[in-house]
Amino acid sequence: MKNYTNVKDLGDLNLAVKEALEIKKNRFAYKHLGENKTLLMVFFNSSLRTRLSTQKAGMNLGMNTMVLDINQGAWKLETERGVIMDGDKTEHLLEAIPVMGNYCDIIGVRAFAQFENKEDDYQEKILNQFIKYSGKPVFSMEAATGHPLQGFADLITIEEYKKKDRPKVVLTWAPHPKALPQAVPNSFADFMNEADVDFVITHPEGYELDDKFVRGAKIEYNQDKAFADADFIYAKNWAAYADPNYGKILSKDMSWTVTTEKMALTNNAYFMHCLPVRRNMIVSDDVIESPQSIVIQEAANREISAQTVIKRILESL
Ligand code: CP
Repeated sequence: MKNYTNVKDLGDLNLAVKEALEIKKNRFAYKHLGENKTLLMVFFNSSLRTRLSTQKAGMNLGMNTMVLDINQGAWKLETERGVIMDGDKTEHLLEAIPVMGNYCDIIGVRAFAQFENKEDDYQEKILNQFIKYSGKPVFSMEAATGHPLQGFADLITIEEYKKKDRPKVVLTWAPHPKALPQAVPNSFADFMNEADVDFVITHPEGYELDDKFVRGAKIEYNQDKAFADADFIYAKNWAAYADPNYGKILSKDMSWTVTTEKMALTNNAYFMHCLPVRRNMIVSDDVIESPQSIVIQEAANREISAQTVIKRILESL
């Protein structure tokens, strides 16, 4: 694997999950692969899980790991060409990226959607510049339109917990006080559309995701109907995608919060969320603390998804 930016980079998904579950059984088996190799993780945005799980994955593989927080101690970066740099931005991304590439063997990048320009976000301008100019393999640690390490961890978790060959998996929008990117729901849809699951997306009208990720999945605007017989409920907020409302909050309807009453409509479903989660906005205390909540196990699988991806990249160097 050269770069990892979406589900397709994994090839056969069944094989990828199998490999991940093997790695989980003995996560130090490939320590030799990363000897004298350096992983650089570049964060344009905050993180808890991605930072720790990816660093741990690199260390499991014997790598040296370095973290750069662009907003804490690095020079402020200009990302646009043609700008007269007479403001507060000291360095251009077009110099910074190849310089960073000199110091490492693999680069992970986190760069969220900025909601200023939909085209820029959906062209993955920052991630693609790293791919083009770093000279090193690049993987996404959540970019503007996708979070493929999360989507992979979500699939691994569903494979571990499913009680039937083809479970019903529901992605539900839930309310949130701030406008959030579509990266997580996009990647979750991308993975579920490739997996052997009965996949349903439910959200209020106006929250339709990009067709490129929905790919014909069933949309149900009535959340109660969507929850009927579900085996997994995956909650997430996202801001509107469709024009002219790109990046806007259209609803904070608290009747979409995942509560015990809502979960009672399901087939004793497991509750999932990528975290961090706003309690009693997205999900009630009772649901996230219930035995059916597998959010901690899901977060633990972030180490495994990252390790599988980095292992495959190391094998291709
Ligand atoms: N789920 C996830 O990516 O968490 P962080 O934003 O804390 O990395």
